[in-house]
Amino acid sequence: MTNPVIPVPIDDHDEDLAVIQKPFKIQVADRISHLPPYLFARINQLRDQKRRAGADVIDMAMGNPSDPPSEMVIEKLCEAARDLRNHGYAPALGIKNLRREVASRYLKKWGVRLDPESEVISTLGSKEGFGHLCLAIIGPGDRAIVPAPSYPAHVYGVALASGTTMLFDTTDPSRYLSDIARTCEAAAPCPKMVIVNFPHNPTATVVGSDFYEEVVKLAKRHSFMLVSDLAYADVTFDGYFAPSVLSVEGAKNYAVEFTTMSKGFNMAGWRVGFCAGSPEIVRALGTIKTYYDYGMFRPIQIAAIMALRHGEADVEVQAKIYQQRRDVLCEGLARIGWPVDVPKASMFVWAKIPEPFASRMTSMDFATQLLEQADVAVSPGAGFGVAGEGYVRLAMVENENRLKQAVRQIQRVFGPELKLSVDSDSDDSHSQEIV
Ligand SMILES: Cc1ncc(COP(=O)(O)O)c(C=O)c1O
Repeated sequence: MTNPVIPVPIDDHDEDLAVIQKPFKIQVADRISHLPPYLFARINQLRDQKRRAGADVIDMAMGNPSDPPSEMVIEKLCEAARDLRNHGYAPALGIKNLRREVASRYLKKWGVRLDPESEVISTLGSKEGFGHLCLAIIGPGDRAIVPAPSYPAHVYGVALASGTTMLFDTTDPSRYLSDIARTCEAAAPCPKMVIVNFPHNPTATVVGSDFYEEVVKLAKRHSFMLVSDLAYADVTFDGYFAPSVLSVEGAKNYAVEFTTMSKGFNMAGWRVGFCAGSPEIVRALGTIKTYYDYGMFRPIQIAAIMALRHGEADVEVQAKIYQQRRDVLCEGLARIGWPVDVPKASMFVWAKIPEPFASRMTSMDFATQLLEQADVAVSPGAGFGVAGEGYVRLAMVENENRLKQAVRQIQRVFGPELKLSVDSDSDDSHSQEIV
């Protein structure tokens, strides 16, 4: 015999029920709620809206490579994925042969000897590696010197680890050095960590090896940890070579360096990065990582080995492609009255907003107008912090024809005013001729 179902009387005034009916509010942690709004979201939204309406937006907003990786690397990935033994968890910090290949590339490219067992680990892209490194190194009250304008992950990696950022202008590297020295001399204890990022995102500032000699001397004198983000090591132009901090003698006592296969190897979606250098810092990162992730899919690691071993010529070809795009873009902009600094490396042109626009609008307004009226998406400088205001960043991820088209579209909308501003500048006897 089944029990009869007894209906429960519903009383609107029942306190328990009132509690149940109150909408549940999700309370996120302070570390999330204190994050500022993502400034690039507005541009992305507007771009998507325009595309849905049928506009052909030329997208130079994100540094997301649009060219494919080498065919042999894709083939290797497919082959390794078909091997059913490759589908379990892989060693979280990278399979031995991958770490060996990274060490061997460091030796060939920078003359740096690394022990693949203790001085190299793989990360899920360098962004993940950097974020987790901050968790491993930085705690409440710890301070870190961060380049400004800033790649957002540098600032928020430190902030999410409850650290405090000290933002110093990085566009003049010798001033960056003297700011670090001054801060360390004035404040005890010295900041715990200094981040250097050359070639720099977003400004494309580069340094020679003398910069690293000096910064390692400072690390030695003032006892701070040094983190070098060398994400654009493979995208260099006109014979410029991006040095590694690890080639300075003794650097491994203080420094680690992040490299990535996202940029030069066109493998951004694969999430393959590396952290190399100080065994103690590498170990600390490895400890944190083993609590958060299981590492990279083994077939990706196997294909990455193939790319590192046989892909150097393709990396050089890709750098040439960026160099040609740079020439097309910079020459085109100069021709229409918007002269910009010509980068020696990276995927970016960091362009000062020209007059008369600079005096009447913010970088967000200027980027919005470019998108709304010229169908060209760029990143507003303010997205890289206060120091980026007055600039926009153009990522050279569209092909040469599209870049030429972008210049024509910018000229159509802004050309008359740019021209006027150039003409009035040339009345000034101190002005520079624009070539
Ligand atoms: C300076 C810098 N560091 C790190 C990264 C992240 O690269 P990855 O794809 O290796 O995470 C980027 C990506 O744009 C970058 O610009």
